[in-house]
Amino acid sequence: MVGVKEIRRGKLQEQTFYEQVGGEETFRRLVHRFYEGVAEDPLLKPMYPEEDLGPAEERFTLFLIQYWGGPTTYSKNRGHPRLRMRHAPFKVDQAAHDAWLKHMRVAVEELGLSEEHEHTLWNYLTYAAASMVNTAG
Ligand code: HEM
Repeated sequence: MVGVKEIRRGKLQEQTFYEQVGGEETFRRLVHRFYEGVAEDPLLKPMYPEEDLGPAEERFTLFLIQYWGGPTTYSKNRGHPRLRMRHAPFKVDQAAHDAWLKHMRVAVEELGLSEEHEHTLWNYLTYAAASMVNTAG
């Protein structure tokens, strides 16, 4: 018998945060703007192993898309995020943390999200950035 359970749950549920803020395009804009800042940053730019920031931009974009409820391409390509472990080779100290968040702040503001969405995104990013610090000083 075709009952209510046959209706796809996804259709009944609220949209994911990913969908609410505009999906892939929004996350691409966010990370692209962020990396424009990184490219000009004398502390952060030298930390990136590859001269071309394009592949790093793609990895971070796919990670955020997955985190906020979009497609799980990140883990299909990269496996479990294990972000603290992946940052271990880099000296993430207070200065790097501050520079990272400074560029992220510009990128988030330029998205022009609703106050509530911006707040949710910013809270996460500041929390995540603090948890990535692995070097004192
Ligand atoms: C706090 C300051 C941070 C610094 C200085 C930093 C720096 C870096 C560097 C140098 C890389 C290597 C680039 C590459 O080749 O992919 C990287 C990768 C990455 N970062 Fe960060 N990061 C920071 C915070 C964060 C935060 C808060 C997140 C998540 C919200 C994040 C997510 C990622 C991801 C997803 C990758 C690629 C991982 C992979 O699949 O290899 N990072 N980061």
